[in-house]
Amino acid sequence: MAAAAGMLLLLTVMVMMMPAVLLFLQAEAGDPPYSCGPGSPSLADGLHAFCNRSLPAAERAADLVARLTVAEKVAQLGDQADGVPRLGVPPYKWWSEALHGLSIWGHGMHFDGIVRSVTCFPQVLLTAASFDDNLWLRIGQAIGVEARALYNLGQAEGLTIWSPNVNIFRDPRWGRGQETPGEDPATASRYAVAFVRGLQGSSPAALQTSACCKHATAYDLEDWNGAVRYNFNAKVTAQDLADTYNPPFKSCVADAKATCIMCAYTRVNGVPVCASSDLLTKTVRDEWGLEGYVCSDCDAVANMRDYTPSPEDTVAVAIKAGLDLDCGNYTQVHGMAAIQQGKMTEKDVDKAVTNLFTVRMRLGHFDGDPRNNGVYGHLGAADVCTQAHKDLALVAAQDGIVLLKNDAGILPLDRSAVASAAIIGPNADDPGSLIGNYFGPPCETTTPLQAIQSYVKGVTFLAGCSSAACEFAATGQAVALASSSDHVILFMGLSQKQEQEGLDRTSLLLPGMQQSLITAVASAAKRPVILVLLTGGPVDITFAKNNPKIGAIMWAGYPGQAGGLAIAKVLFGDHNPSGRLPVTWYPEEFTKVPMTDMRMRADPATRYPGRSYRFYQGNPVYKFGDGLSYSKFSRRLISGTNPGLPNTNLLAGLTAKPTADGGATYHVDEIGAEGCEQLKFPAVVEVQNHGPMDGKHSVLMFVRWPNATAGVSRPVSQLVGFQSQHVKAGENVRVRFEVSPCVQLSRATEDGKKVIDRGSHLLMVEEDDEWEIRIEA
Ligand SMILES: *[C@@H]1O[C@H](CO)[C@@H](O)[C@H](O)[C@H]1NC(C)=O
Ligand SMILES: *[C@@H]1O[C@H](CO)[C@@H](O)[C@H](O)[C@H]1NC(C)=O
Ligand SMILES: *[C@@H]1O[C@H](CO)[C@@H](O)[C@H](O)[C@H]1NC(C)=O
Repeated sequence: MAAAAGMLLLLTVMVMMMPAVLLFLQAEAGDPPYSCGPGSPSLADGLHAFCNRSLPAAERAADLVARLTVAEKVAQLGDQADGVPRLGVPPYKWWSEALHGLSIWGHGMHFDGIVRSVTCFPQVLLTAASFDDNLWLRIGQAIGVEARALYNLGQAEGLTIWSPNVNIFRDPRWGRGQETPGEDPATASRYAVAFVRGLQGSSPAALQTSACCKHATAYDLEDWNGAVRYNFNAKVTAQDLADTYNPPFKSCVADAKATCIMCAYTRVNGVPVCASSDLLTKTVRDEWGLEGYVCSDCDAVANMRDYTPSPEDTVAVAIKAGLDLDCGNYTQVHGMAAIQQGKMTEKDVDKAVTNLFTVRMRLGHFDGDPRNNGVYGHLGAADVCTQAHKDLALVAAQDGIVLLKNDAGILPLDRSAVASAAIIGPNADDPGSLIGNYFGPPCETTTPLQAIQSYVKGVTFLAGCSSAACEFAATGQAVALASSSDHVILFMGLSQKQEQEGLDRTSLLLPGMQQSLITAVASAAKRPVILVLLTGGPVDITFAKNNPKIGAIMWAGYPGQAGGLAIAKVLFGDHNPSGRLPVTWYPEEFTKVPMTDMRMRADPATRYPGRSYRFYQGNPVYKFGDGLSYSKFSRRLISGTNPGLPNTNLLAGLTAKPTADGGATYHVDEIGAEGCEQLKFPAVVEVQNHGPMDGKHSVLMFVRWPNATAGVSRPVSQLVGFQSQHVKAGENVRVRFEVSPCVQLSRATEDGKKVIDRGSHLLMVEEDDEWEIRIEA
């Protein structure tokens, strides 16, 4: 989405004024917009079929569309859709956002009624670090409940939420990487499924809200060296589309039953995605089975104007390709002319408008007063910012925080032994540094400084730089403070001034004078210092990793309203960290790679290093999956407890096709859905917590190909799955994985077909513990 200018400034003011505003404004609950209530014109001459709740949603939508004039239909094609007063249909606002909590972005929701604030969960990348899809589901559920509450209170003119963002975090410089679940397609797919299910609720016939997976596909660049997202032509191979860029969108539609897909600004191999019938119709609707609507990123239709001769052609190309809704008004403005000029037909528009109304029917907007809805009608102000939601925001931040370094066991701190602590850094006491982008006004915010003050009495704070940009640093003052304190905790990193929508980074180093400030403070301090990084994307902090005077490093993402508390709990051992990095932390030299190069796979001949843990051939600063605990955990695959082998008999009738490197492969298409089902096998992992603390542990299971030219034809390794489990100190538990060779052991060929190699595959849950799986008839 194009972020509205001034939004950040407005929000800063809102956040600051919130408590005062609450005191003197006692708002009344408003009425939600809806159709087919008592007295509705659509009931006056008997029950119109579109109001008949016994009929299927699509049938009701078709009935409504059949009653509309062409002009009324065209007026539905933009995110601010007109009402149809003669039928009792109110206007509708399609655009709402809820990336990690309901958001002020978009037009559909407002925070000026009884509800003035909402639960602000961590920015998504940190939440992803928990590798816990039950947590992701619960966050989606909580946000969906808050959305329904807002709607019932008349503070929402829509329940269509344009979240989650499941683009692959392909390049560490991407300003919106923070919004995504990271670089791994399997993780992003699982995130999409859990979050969408949570938001939409468990009843497909009565959606809690409608979720939208964006931005299909291969969008992950804002502005690099003159290439801007609005018209960037991404050259993407069929292979990378099949095994990197598209899987999260496929899972969203096919598995989570998301009711919307958003097409990106991107041109993929010359074709704007919003004009690609190949993607929107053939793949998303027909192959993946979308039951819902396709919308464009904001002004994406207007932006592809030069792809066609006239505005009417532009609109027609998009609608005929399978677009149903334009974020913006370009289709509304030019739609009539496009029909009159014969560029598209009224039937093309009917298809789009029927898809749109079907989703609104499933949301219950044509069932009379939503406050009478048996499932969601009771939700109101008491369901927003509940203790349970606030606790969940804390759990999400705690479970995401990644401990990257803890030399000599400097953490956790013993609160009774810390007489004085110097808290240094621009991110220590700035509520804005906790919430990332696409946020709403949080219920409450605790900064790290405030939270640490509740643990330790002798706290002295010095920002050191006025912002994360850190053009000037108060190094002398910081050094003096550090040398006179028992402990030093630095809160550094990035802010939305370095990485945001529309803004990619050009360097992976900490901005301005941060590095020299940290180093000077570390040299002056009595003990090794603790460095807490608030960032979205990864940073190259090799200097800190290698500096023995920096005893601990923690990545806390943008941790949301409870982030300060979560960080303090980890620092003082009230929570045992378990987060693991969902992205590779690359060295600064990676910035030599053109951001526009979409290839995932390495090309040693041209020294192209490849991208993500699956293909990168350089030495990362920290690896995908890195993350320490205060306890020692071990993992072991146990074969005695399960069949342990796929039933490969059913491959007997298939011919493995030879590959260029002398191996052979089975085609997943030929194995077929039923064969793939039968090939599934269980793998049981025993997790032992050797102590000293209880804690959560996420087991990541990878597969490796023994003879592969790693990182070129096949990934170096590939995530099979993950399971998150709480284990008491001294105990062990068993977690069960179900491995589907067709999905998790397969790889894409150059033409985008999924194949399974014949022969050995090595499963690993521990570096030196591999388990061989042979796929052979
Ligand atoms: C609503 O639809 C059902 C199912 O087709 C039908 O039996 C019923 O008569 C309809 N109700 C009205 C009031 O038309
Ligand atoms: C369409 O949107 C543009 C940009 O927001 C605005 O300037 C214009 O007035 C709108 N046109 C109509 C007919 O609503
Ligand atoms: C890998 O290479 C070894 C040694 O050349 C060979 O014995 C084995 O069959 C190969 N495995 C696969 C999967 O090709």
